[in-house]
Amino acid sequence: MSNAVGAAARRVGALRAQVVDPASSSRQTPQEAPSARVGLVDWFFGASGIGGKRASFTVAVLGAAGGIGQTLSAFIKANPKVAELRLYDVAPVVRGVAADVSHVNTRAKVSGYVGDDELEACLRGCDLVIIPAGVPRKPGMSRDDLFGVNAGIVRTLCEGVAKTCPNAIVNIISNPVNSTVPIAAEVFKKHGCYDARKLLGVTHLDVMRAKTFVAAAKGFDDPTLVDVPVIGGHAGTTILPLLSQTTPRCSFTPEEVSALTNRIQNGGTEVVEAKGGAGSATLSMAAAAAEFADACLRGLSGESGIWACAYVESKATRAPFFATKVLLGRNGVERVAGTGTLSSYEKRALESMLPELEASIKKGINFLHS
Ligand code: LMR
Repeated sequence: MSNAVGAAARRVGALRAQVVDPASSSRQTPQEAPSARVGLVDWFFGASGIGGKRASFTVAVLGAAGGIGQTLSAFIKANPKVAELRLYDVAPVVRGVAADVSHVNTRAKVSGYVGDDELEACLRGCDLVIIPAGVPRKPGMSRDDLFGVNAGIVRTLCEGVAKTCPNAIVNIISNPVNSTVPIAAEVFKKHGCYDARKLLGVTHLDVMRAKTFVAAAKGFDDPTLVDVPVIGGHAGTTILPLLSQTTPRCSFTPEEVSALTNRIQNGGTEVVEAKGGAGSATLSMAAAAAEFADACLRGLSGESGIWACAYVESKATRAPFFATKVLLGRNGVERVAGTGTLSSYEKRALESMLPELEASIKKGINFLHS
């Protein structure tokens, strides 16, 4: 995502400079002031959100009443590329969430859908379906411990996608992502609508964490301008930040590599423990999922050069699903990058995570065939 997000950050910076000019604004009445817009769209999406070429997409959030889903829905409502936002949940409060989000003054029309009977209506005509549905971890649990509940939820929701909007791009957030993405792939294969370019596991929070922690360690003032590819999967040691490929270029001592890698791999657990049983990361995950969804929509609308890390079907390693940078375009994933040149630490870490990743993938595939 480096190029795309870097450009967005620069646009936001330019916009802020334009908006906050105390010297000139103090001499002007409100009527005389230049018509710089100060609003939610500008704040989240910078100058690219104003005027320009606007695409009109229909986006669904499945699990919109949950901790991630509510915040994510508010972020997506602010996205100027979204014409319609459909919020689905089994919990009836989702209608209230839809009413709440609908008051935000952006152009997306918002509606709420409750339960199995309304899933089809929610999904009809969707371009992008984002799935955060499921239960979160408690302290002491691994993401794989969620498989028993979340696997079935993801299967049911993907059945709905296969029947109703088989051409939509699907972003899977529900854990364990290492297994739920293969589950979704098997559902789509069963329905004859699997297109590997359109199924993406959201690992972007690992990238956000890497940017944040590396910026803090190296004294970079603005984490948005730091790029660290994060490859592999989305659980424990399957999360592998490629610190050797960090830009701006910087060097790390072996101790720094070990400490930063560890912290990025355990970022989710850090939040689970800090919340003390009240859930896992919701706010940062929502921000990551919203940024990733925006990258998908920019690709869909024909923007070029939109790269982001995602967990997709891949030939980068012997694992059939693997996260690397992918190029997003009009059909979803246009290109899957390789791992690039790895340090010897990263090569070892990659080799030792692959058996776990492969086992999680197999578990997901077998779920559909058992
Ligand atoms: C995260 O990375 O924060 C999420 O996958 C939630 C979790 O359980 O860690």
